[in-house]
Amino acid sequence: MNLPPMHVLLAASELHPFSKTGGLADAVAALGQAAAQAGCRVTIVTPLYRGIAAKHPGIRRAGWKFDLPLGKDLVSGEFWQLDLSPGLSIWFVDQPAFFDRPGLYNEGQRDYADNAQRFLFLTKAAMLAARYHPEPPSIIHGHDWQVGLLPLLVHFARVTGSWPDAPRTVFTIHNLAYQGVFPVEAWQYTNLPWSWFHLESAAHYGQLNFLKGALYLADALTTVSPRYAVEICTTEYGCGLEGILRRREHDLTGILNGVDYQEWNTQANPALPFAYDAQHPAGKAANKEALQAEMGLAVDASVPLFGNISRLTDQKGCDLILAALERLMPETRLQFVLLGSGDPELQEAFQALAAEYPGKVAVRIGFHARLAHRIEAACDFYLMPSRFEPCGLNQMYSLRYGAIPIVRCTGGLADSVTDPRDDPDRANGIHFHEPTAEALVWAIRKALAVHEDPEAFRHFRLNGMTADFSWEKQAAEYLRLYGDVLHGP
Ligand code: ADP
Ligand code: GLC
Repeated sequence: MNLPPMHVLLAASELHPFSKTGGLADAVAALGQAAAQAGCRVTIVTPLYRGIAAKHPGIRRAGWKFDLPLGKDLVSGEFWQLDLSPGLSIWFVDQPAFFDRPGLYNEGQRDYADNAQRFLFLTKAAMLAARYHPEPPSIIHGHDWQVGLLPLLVHFARVTGSWPDAPRTVFTIHNLAYQGVFPVEAWQYTNLPWSWFHLESAAHYGQLNFLKGALYLADALTTVSPRYAVEICTTEYGCGLEGILRRREHDLTGILNGVDYQEWNTQANPALPFAYDAQHPAGKAANKEALQAEMGLAVDASVPLFGNISRLTDQKGCDLILAALERLMPETRLQFVLLGSGDPELQEAFQALAAEYPGKVAVRIGFHARLAHRIEAACDFYLMPSRFEPCGLNQMYSLRYGAIPIVRCTGGLADSVTDPRDDPDRANGIHFHEPTAEALVWAIRKALAVHEDPEAFRHFRLNGMTADFSWEKQAAEYLRLYGDVLHGP
């Protein structure tokens, strides 16, 4: 008997290459693609933000207009569709007043005041797509706080009998620090009774917490690395939700993200001026010189070049980079390049550092996808001193691009980068432990010593470039989990 393929609906507020502020976009796109390649049918529901339809002419109206209750209002929307392969479709939620805006979540540093309404609309649209799909999915898999109330809304519909055969729900925490916290009045936009708003649903310290709704009511929970799955059950990393996470420990799985090596490749990549790989490393030095010229650094292939590409936030430890470089710049000949945006104070501080060390420090504020590739291809070392890191993708991109990662030993960084003290044969990066500038300075000095030793440098780099973090393996873990959720382990 030929069983029809399992149909999974993914819901997320970002999706590469259509919308992106960070790794969520990459992870959801790659998971969707890998699950479809593994034989699943996949539908991804995501907002139609400004400019997407114009930039991707293959996207067409799906011929499905709808109205959804949002508190006292009825808000209309429409699905647009893009079929990427026979098993993979993207359904974009069009609601111009909500999504046709300059930013995804904010403008400048200001969050949109109606984010609760905007993302509840997305959540309800995802449920609608699942419910009336001609071949309804058996799993709905939500990602991050924006769709955190999805498991709760689906659970409500199932137990109250309005949708008795509702799909099972899986929810992935990409970052526990972002919870979607709103005043209690925002509960009205769920259109659920107030009796459902309590401490074991989405009420948290007198506010509405979108993420908490998922933690209580998803059939299965995942996060994006095994180490982070353990960390978030502790007070240090649990962001106030460790109690409920501990209670659901047996339903929580850590699955490391993978890398889309078609996108992040050094051999045939239109973003890179020179091709290279582990067997043909010459192009790496040529990329380095090209980037040095592009960014106004002194052109010299022999100088160790360090890089970082980040959202400039407390999470990423960019202040530690600043403090470490202020200490090291006067006495070493290293170069540093940064691409990032975020906290205005950090932006200014990095710009000031570049002004102080022209030719040695280059800073580009903004979001530039192709420049990110060129920086990875140019750098000898990649700095990732995160205070916490659910998974982190840049360290895995760096490994493949031959930029040896220097990481704080936390979350997915600990799970993906191998330090020589743990395994000298497979070492591909450097770990440090304390979230301090001293510890980072120590690690950078260690990197400089590796750079001075051509044999060791080649060893680290080759191990990194040949490490395999492809999505096929990780998607198989998700498929196993979907199977367990549907049929029991
Ligand atoms: P996070 O999701 O916490 O920001 P990740 O390491 O998982 O961290 O993913 C970040 C992704 O966003 C990477 O693909 C990285 O290259 C990209 N990125 C972050 N900032 C920028 C930027 N300013 N320009 C281009 N890409 C960026
Ligand atoms: C989050 C995390 C990051 C992770 C990404 C994709 O933004 O901060 O560590 O790699 O999601 O899962």
